[in-house]
This record gives sequence, C-alpha cells and structure tokens, in this order.
Amino acid sequence: MHRRKLLFAVPVLILFLLLLVNWLAMPGPAQPVVINGVAAPPLPPLDPAAAAEGARLYGQYCAVCHGANLEGTPNWKVRLADGSLPPPPQDSSGHTWHHADELLLEIIRDGGDPASGSKMPAFGAQLNDVQIGAILTYFKSRWSREAREFQWWVTATTSE
Ligand code: HEC
Repeated sequence: MHRRKLLFAVPVLILFLLLLVNWLAMPGPAQPVVINGVAAPPLPPLDPAAAAEGARLYGQYCAVCHGANLEGTPNWKVRLADGSLPPPPQDSSGHTWHHADELLLEIIRDGGDPASGSKMPAFGAQLNDVQIGAILTYFKSRWSREAREFQWWVTATTSE
C-alpha cells in the first residue's frame, strides 16, 4: 500500500518541480532603462536579419580599418604622427556606444570631422541609411548589455 502511494507521489513531485523551474525562467515584463533618474523605454529587440546583413556589409566596407572582429587598432587612443587618431574598436571596448544613433549615422554617411584631422571616410555614396542602420544593428548585437542600454538611453533621450 505504502509503496503504491510513493509511486504516484514521485512523478507528481517531478512535474511540480519542472513547472516551477519553467515559471522561474520566464522573462519578466521589459523594464525601462533608467540612468541618472531619467527613464527611457525598455530596450527594443534587434532584428537578426538586419544584424546579419550589417555583419556582411561591415566585412566588405569597414573591417579593413576597424578589424575583422571589431577589435580596432592597438593603441587606438594614441594619436599618430600626422595628428589623426587610428580606427577605434566597434565593440564595447571602443566608444561608438557613447553616441546616439543619429550622430553615428552622420559620422558613417558623411565621414569624420576633417577639422579634427579625422581619417574616417564618408560612405554616403556606397551605403544608404538602411544599410548603415543594419551595420549599427550588427554593432549593437555585439555590445555588452550595459553598453547597449547606455547607447539606447542616449538615443532615446537625445532630441536633435
Ligand atoms: C580607411 C579606414 C577606415 C574605414 C574603411 C572605416 N573607418 Fe570608421 N573610422 C576610421 C578612423 C581613423 C576613425 C577615428 C576617427 C577620429 O576619431 O578622428 C573612425 C571612426 C569611426 C566611428 C566613430 C567612433 C566614435 O566613437 O567616435 C564610427 C562609428 C565608424 N568609424 C564606423 C565605421 C563604419 C561603419 C565603417 C564601414 C562602413 C567604417 N567606419 C570604415 C577609419 C576607417
């Protein structure tokens, strides 16, 4: 008699534990991104197709300077003999994620500021805004959660 009850209780217990684990693993409601007491809407999801297209375009146009794996140049913070800065990394170790989408789009489309001796070329003739957006989506897919939240917050709270 006892044995039978046990045979019934064990599967029920296992089922209960599985349901509990499943419930605990469910993502909660998306949280707003709050920095310095200012809230931005929750982080929007990235389109995987755009990220893949961005990775392809990056390999074609950008990797030669910014590195096949977004790693940039060693000592990218040290100015070269001609006073210009070497290509920075595009992953979280660089500073691309400090800037809002609009500014990044401008830098890539129109090039770096020649007044500061920037050697970042303009890509407006080769890439349209959708393609540049795809490259930015690729960068975002490679940033840390913190970097991505910060860049999203800057983008969402910057009014131009
Ligand atoms: C000929 C080399 C070269 C190529 C090719 C190139 N870049 Fe750059 N890029 C640079 C250099 C050099 C800088 C740093 C300029 C400065 O700060 O003065 C830079 C800076 C940038 C920045 C600004 C980073 C920041 O934090 O301010 C972005 C964004 C960027 N590049 C994106 C791209 C993208 C996207 C492509 C491909 C479509 C690309 N670059 C292709 C050389 C290049």
